[in-house]
Amino acid sequence: MIQKLTFDQIEQIADSIKTYNNVVVIETDTVMGVVSSQPEAIYEIKQRPTEKKLIYFVHDIDQVPDLTPSEKKVISKYWPGALTVIKGGVSYRVPNHKNLLRLIDITGPLYSSSANISGQNPIKNSLEAENVFSKYDNGLTIVKGKQLGSQPSTVINLDTYTVVRQGKYDGKKIIYQISKGIKQKIYIASDHAGYEMKKAIISTLKNKYEFKDLGPKSTKPIDYPLYAFKVGEKVKTDSKSIGVLICGTGFGMCIAANKVKGIRAVTITDPKIAAMARLHNNCNVITLSARFNTLDNNIKIINNFMDVSFDAKDPANERHIRRLKLISDKENKC
Ligand code: RB5
Repeated sequence: MIQKLTFDQIEQIADSIKTYNNVVVIETDTVMGVVSSQPEAIYEIKQRPTEKKLIYFVHDIDQVPDLTPSEKKVISKYWPGALTVIKGGVSYRVPNHKNLLRLIDITGPLYSSSANISGQNPIKNSLEAENVFSKYDNGLTIVKGKQLGSQPSTVINLDTYTVVRQGKYDGKKIIYQISKGIKQKIYIASDHAGYEMKKAIISTLKNKYEFKDLGPKSTKPIDYPLYAFKVGEKVKTDSKSIGVLICGTGFGMCIAANKVKGIRAVTITDPKIAAMARLHNNCNVITLSARFNTLDNNIKIINNFMDVSFDAKDPANERHIRRLKLISDKENKC
């Protein structure tokens, strides 16, 4: 039997999620939604293709990992509200609905989607939900309520600084507010093997970073050290900038870039360790593989690296500073 509750029974709603793993049809600040702690249950009830992502409803902005200070500042102005942000491939939103926030406070973050069978119109109220989802008499809770807003949330992708869906707010404006005046500069170059990957990286991330493309301009075979030196020299004199170099493996570029005094370059092939190169080694150049890694992974590597910074004033970094000094002392003696 479908369980029917009202917002006055908030503890029971939470219990249906936490104890019984139910999917709950519930009013949100936009269209009627379904929420659950189990993403598979939402996919099943909505007959939704699994490649389509769900939104993760969070209680406050601190539950979104890895936001930059600028992203945090701007998004705080729209939350709680009809703005969804994608970070690290996950969609997050703080809904502007008091009771829904009370619920998330009890249950923890919840997966969510609009309350409809995939491809069909969203339902307008909880009564309609009883018909639409009638065959799910087990594992379903319906909370009395109605659609409060017809416009869906605006969706922006913070991995690429692009607007995914224009909704209640102007996504372009939000991205502009986040990036204005603070776009980080990246000097980028490749060899012939990395040329197409370089183009694809610039095209994917051009809204997020200021790219200075130091060549080459075609896939005609060239010698990678010359381009590694070009980027190294620029990064050396423009101390706030970062260098990205792409060749077949990433290795040759790395060896060559490290011959420029003051450059700390590493080849990164796994997004999971990209941040460490900056946090522990204060790297100022990263080199990527075009032949043995995907565009998607290389984008994640760049974002994870750029999202953090090395704080030379933090006493906790004393050991890293000492080790980096040993390296630069050796470099100065060579
Ligand atoms: C070019 O074939 C290839 O050797 C170069 O792109 C790079 O992988 C060198 O390390």
